[in-house]
Amino acid sequence: MPRLARVSTLLDDYEALVRQRRATRHFAPEPVDPALVDRLLGITQWAPSGYNLQPTRFVVVTDRAIRPALRRACMDQPQVEEAPVVIVFAGDHLAYEHHFEETLGLDLAAGAVTDEYAGILRKILPLAIQRGPARLNWLWKATLLPLVRCVRPVPDLPAVNKRFWLAKQAMLCAMNFMLAAEAAGLNTLPMEGFDTARLRRALDLPRCWEPMLVVPLGTIRPGPPAKKTRMPLQRIVLRR
Ligand SMILES: Cc1cc2nc3c(=O)[nH]c(=O)nc-3n(C[C@H](O)[C@H](O)[C@H](O)COP(=O)(O)O)c2cc1C
Repeated sequence: MPRLARVSTLLDDYEALVRQRRATRHFAPEPVDPALVDRLLGITQWAPSGYNLQPTRFVVVTDRAIRPALRRACMDQPQVEEAPVVIVFAGDHLAYEHHFEETLGLDLAAGAVTDEYAGILRKILPLAIQRGPARLNWLWKATLLPLVRCVRPVPDLPAVNKRFWLAKQAMLCAMNFMLAAEAAGLNTLPMEGFDTARLRRALDLPRCWEPMLVVPLGTIRPGPPAKKTRMPLQRIVLRR
């Protein structure tokens, strides 16, 4: 098959998958095979992350006993109780401290990064990411950065706005997950409507894990066909 025709078929299939995904707010009680959930998470994990630091954690909720608390934490949204599985995407605030050398070591062994690049990461990451005890590093980084920025370009540092940084990484994983689920014939819903502290308590999360997105997974309860809308493309594209 000529390359262009092959690309076009792949794109057609991908577009169909993306467009058929719909926000699912009611789930049928059919269970999801735990092996399939693991496969989906294995695919999800291939999402990119800043410095390949992989700070996103997947909390797999199947226990029915904690669903009422989960539902309460999620502003009483019924889908988290109906869906057979709920995945909570969480960001690990201490990912750097926990496994920077481990992930870098894997990249080095695989030839994914050079020794020279690893040296640069070892030098800049403590500055970019670490907050230090009692957030002391955060204080000087947050104070000095705007001043430094007056004379030279400085990127947003995860150390200054760690939640924002973690959210970006988690969303890339979550989208991978939702499309993989769709490809497996399952349905999902991205949810930000939750109370972080209550959700943490309901799931008994490690202190350094912060929930970023809740995604129920299952089979949609039969109902009227999906209606999806988006703005015209020209309203959201800026060309320079
Ligand atoms: C970050 C994010 C958070 C969302 N939070 C909720 C939520 O808490 N509850 C809900 O019912 N829908 C939630 N949605 C679903 C959106 O309402 C839905 O994606 C949007 O209306 C577009 O519909 P579609 O996903 O079917 O294309 C959320 C979507 C995103 C991307």
